Amino acid sequence: MPPSCPASGSRVPGAARGDRRHRRTNYARGMSSGAGRLDVARVRGLFPGLSDGFVHADGPGGTLVPESVVRAVSQAMRVPIANRGGVFPSSARAEQLVSGARSAVADLVGGVPAGVVLGPNVTSLTYAVARALAKHWRAGDEIVVSRLDHDANVRPWLQVADRLGLVVRWAEVDIETGELPDWQYDELLTNRTRLVAVTAASNAIGTCPDVAAITRRAHQVGALVFVDAAHAAPHLLLDLEQLGADFLAVSAYKWCGPHVGAVVADPGLWEELWPDKLLPASDRVPDRFEPGTPPFELYAGVAAAVDHFAALCPESTGTRRQRLVTAMAAVGRYEGELFDRLDTALRRMPHLHVLGEPWPRTPTLSFTVSGMRPRQVAGELARRGICAWDGDFFARELFDAIGVNEAGGAVRLGLMHYNTAEEVERLVECIDDLR
Ligand SMILES: Cc1ncc(COP(=O)(O)O)c(C=O)c1O
Repeated sequence: MPPSCPASGSRVPGAARGDRRHRRTNYARGMSSGAGRLDVARVRGLFPGLSDGFVHADGPGGTLVPESVVRAVSQAMRVPIANRGGVFPSSARAEQLVSGARSAVADLVGGVPAGVVLGPNVTSLTYAVARALAKHWRAGDEIVVSRLDHDANVRPWLQVADRLGLVVRWAEVDIETGELPDWQYDELLTNRTRLVAVTAASNAIGTCPDVAAITRRAHQVGALVFVDAAHAAPHLLLDLEQLGADFLAVSAYKWCGPHVGAVVADPGLWEELWPDKLLPASDRVPDRFEPGTPPFELYAGVAAAVDHFAALCPESTGTRRQRLVTAMAAVGRYEGELFDRLDTALRRMPHLHVLGEPWPRTPTLSFTVSGMRPRQVAGELARRGICAWDGDFFARELFDAIGVNEAGGAVRLGLMHYNTAEEVERLVECIDDLR
């Protein structure tokens, strides 16, 4: 079989491996703090979708949904819901669903409900924020995007830059390690930098950049930071303040909820921005960023999904946010152990090339197999009862930099809190079988 390994070598001059020694990612912090244990047998019983017998290693593309979320959505549709703004009970119910979703997302990310803008998904919301911010920018202003990001946190900014004549600077990935070194921002930021767009975790290779270190540097020059936490959210505790994110984007279908996105910011920051909007629609924050009639029933599912995570350690007490702190620490520990087994076993296989290095990351990896195209590998895995994505996962810039796109990208495996050690064994056996 001819090899299909990616090119190696760093795109970041001087990216020293030793730099990583003292670095602890948010994920690592999640793994080492807090009490509580995940009872995976109990957790699996909550997910009707697991009864199909497949190993669902496709979570980074969208997770399974617990029964509680299904029930919340259908319950919301069983009772009358009108639109918002009326003086009758079914309109009040719609209002409650909106505020319930805002509170839940605020708890998930350590924000406040008044700063939660809901919308169809991260991509559309990022475009909306980019358009609103662009009204304040002039030709010659600068933005910094990263080669690690999903295209949803790259293209909207590049397209605005193109329209306005902004200068675009790129934060590069060390393609051997998969790391996005934060020190390079010292050279990328200037007093004309208006925005830094960066991911909290790569949906392709799991890398968790040191977002707090990046935001600190960005704020020193007065730039805003838009953090894409779509992939990070089901794996690590998000904390708007600790990350220093001005905007933080999440998508509920990545954390066991329905297809709804959210961007969270300080309400005061939203106050400074104006989207294009209809005249009769509310001018209030955050409502003015939410055009049209929202999917109220799905909002019930958003709140139920956050409740699902908050209840993962049934013995934990306190507010929902406090229970989330305990739960996400337990999730981090559990997923970390499972992922170590998977990662270690795959790296021993001579016919495999795992992209990046195994320092702390979300439980997500991408690999190529000698002599097989990723689509073929995914097909073989599907025949063996494994759901795994192939392609570039919209991490187009990263996979172009690594050099795997010409060969069809890579195969991605992502573990979630509902995956088991037995499933990891099955994954390892099936992949070994491709030899
Ligand atoms: C890291 C990351 N960012 C952004 C997105 C886009 O999210 P959405 O599908 O909500 O637009 C995804 C989806 O795969 C993602 O994984």
